[in-house]
Amino acid sequence: MFQMKTYRIPNTDLDVSRIAFGTGGLGGTWDQAPITQDLRDRAKTLLHTAIELGINFIDLADVYTWGKSNRVVGDVIQNTPSFREKVILQSKAGIKLPGQIAANSTTVYDFSYENLITSVETTLERLKTDYLDILLLHRPSALVEPEEVARAFDTLHTSGKVRYFGVSNHTSFQIALLQRYVDQPFVVNQVELNLLHNDLINDGLLFNNQEQLYSGAHGTLDYCRQHDILIQAWSPVAKGKLFTPPESASEIIKATAIKIDQMAKKHNTTPEAIAIGWLLHHPAKIQPILGTLKPHRIVDSVRADDVNLSRLEWYTLLEIANGQSVP
Ligand SMILES: NC(=O)c1ccc[n+]([C@@H]2O[C@H](COP(=O)([O-])OP(=O)(O)OC[C@H]3O[C@@H](n4cnc5c(N)ncnc54)[C@H](OP(=O)(O)O)[C@@H]3O)[C@@H](O)[C@H]2O)c1
Repeated sequence: MFQMKTYRIPNTDLDVSRIAFGTGGLGGTWDQAPITQDLRDRAKTLLHTAIELGINFIDLADVYTWGKSNRVVGDVIQNTPSFREKVILQSKAGIKLPGQIAANSTTVYDFSYENLITSVETTLERLKTDYLDILLLHRPSALVEPEEVARAFDTLHTSGKVRYFGVSNHTSFQIALLQRYVDQPFVVNQVELNLLHNDLINDGLLFNNQEQLYSGAHGTLDYCRQHDILIQAWSPVAKGKLFTPPESASEIIKATAIKIDQMAKKHNTTPEAIAIGWLLHHPAKIQPILGTLKPHRIVDSVRADDVNLSRLEWYTLLEIANGQSVP
């Protein structure tokens, strides 16, 4: 078994592998189609591959493939003695999918007490476990009532159903507003972050440069560092565009893929390791969440744990992905 380097999530007793495994597509299609044996077998292979490679962190959500991702993970938990104790389970709540509330209903974000409690109870049932290590609010809700979130978190924490709490896709201001009411510390913010989608990093670098790519990410990366909130990167390899850009991709994306490939050869590693290593190199201690459903790509990705990019290489990749140098 590989030993991957770990991070201690501040304000918790959790030592997490620097790279996590995501289950966004693990249950197959995003519909009510039944779970096939092939899907169960694939989930088992992927989860065991991840663990053998030193990954101890599984990212889930109640909505992933309409609950089927949680169910296939639950099967593995049920059928593998001591599996639950080996892994840290993080799930998300707060999204109602189209058609979930009523026939033809639209997507709704729902942070009500009832929905958060029901979501966690359903999630625990599907996962066949008694507790989540971390619960995240999936996407910021325009109708958030922080007092309601605080009440739900208190109930979930006191009952032992959730150990720690966090958010996903939230800005610094949104976290600060919630934290004013919630007693438990927010320990995670999971955001889209990769070389091609790097607003969080550009935000601080390009502040006040009107000609540049200033994104207005509200200092979220610095806020999270200041408040000991672990940043998790979803879509860490931009869904594969960093390696095999489609013909229609921009010249910038194609140039980025070429540079990643060149650096992989120079470092005697894989392109996946360079793209993910770019995130790991950041001193904020970013935890990338892998989305691949191919065991060999998990193998290629975890090699990032051993990649050491120089400062020059890190900035060179940023410059190529931005299509311009820093100011
Ligand atoms: N919080 C949120 O709002 C949010 C949103 C989205 C995702 N997430 C979480 O983040 C996880 C990862 O997100 P993601 O799936 O977007 O991440 P990703 O790893 O950037 O993308 C995964 C996709 O890229 C493909 N891919 C990966 N490596 C490749 C390679 N070397 N060459 C070609 N294609 C490659 C995969 O295909 P193969 O399967 O064929 O390898 C898969 O279709 C999810 O599973 C979920 O847990 C969270």
